[in-house]
Amino acid sequence: MQSALNPAGLEAERIATLWWWMAGGTLVIWALVVALAVYAKRAGDDRYSEREARWLILGGGVILPTVVLTGLLIYGLWLLPALRGTEPPPGLRIEVVGERWWWRVRYLPEDGEPVVSANEIRLPVGEKVEFILSSPDVIHSFWIPSLGGKMDMIPGRVTRLVLEPRRVGRFRGACAEFCGASHAYMNFAAVVMEPAAFEAWLAGQAQPAAEPAEPLTRRGQTLFLANGCGACHTVRGTPADGVLGPDLTHVGGRLTLAAGLLPNDPAAFVRWIGHSDELKPEANMPAFGMLPAAELRAMAAYLESLR
Ligand code: CUA
Repeated sequence: MQSALNPAGLEAERIATLWWWMAGGTLVIWALVVALAVYAKRAGDDRYSEREARWLILGGGVILPTVVLTGLLIYGLWLLPALRGTEPPPGLRIEVVGERWWWRVRYLPEDGEPVVSANEIRLPVGEKVEFILSSPDVIHSFWIPSLGGKMDMIPGRVTRLVLEPRRVGRFRGACAEFCGASHAYMNFAAVVMEPAAFEAWLAGQAQPAAEPAEPLTRRGQTLFLANGCGACHTVRGTPADGVLGPDLTHVGGRLTLAAGLLPNDPAAFVRWIGHSDELKPEANMPAFGMLPAAELRAMAAYLESLR
């Protein structure tokens, strides 16, 4: 679900409230203008003096917008700063880096080691979480409409955003700033969980990758390493320790592949590894279409087993 009008977070609730007031007000003003137009048409040309017309323009064109917009500004300012511009709350912080075109994610628990992940964000319900946002090259914008407003990720700067999810569920996040050829393919799943389930999940993510247990997944791991995938990707617990691309230690357990582009199943892994250039134009991930289908399937099985 990606909708600012289906709020599941504190800031999104406030934004939705403001939106409904504005939509209602717009409707009232629109009805007023239409009614005036109909009335003027029926009444004919010589009904008003110039003096009355001037008052109508002054009242409807200057005074009314000034009063309405000032009121809206005051209401909006009063409504919104609940989370913005205040001291960051203690607790979980999450570093998110906008890459072309995926999301580098690092969980920084209050006590404990950082946990690296990608293209998916999990959050405990009812807790304020501070996001630390940046980008190495182009401007992206981090947005989970159901949880709150968007925040730009600007090269050379660090921006911050605090969100407080209030409802458990799966929501869709997206890049909300045009950032190049595959801007539209830069999405992620945001999963809000019960705090205990979140802690258990995070502890699992901190573990190294599972050793492949079957002949097919073992072969997949050998191929993964032999084809140089480890130059860009990390699979903790193996020699693969590249940092250019997403960390794949637990890639099989994620909800989507390629930053929200594909479902997470072996067939999608085969498509992605073989045709990444077609699926995500200008992405840095080279396509391995020259590999035999059986080898792609073995690698897909291995990656899928990394839960
Ligand atoms: Cu990143 Cu648009």
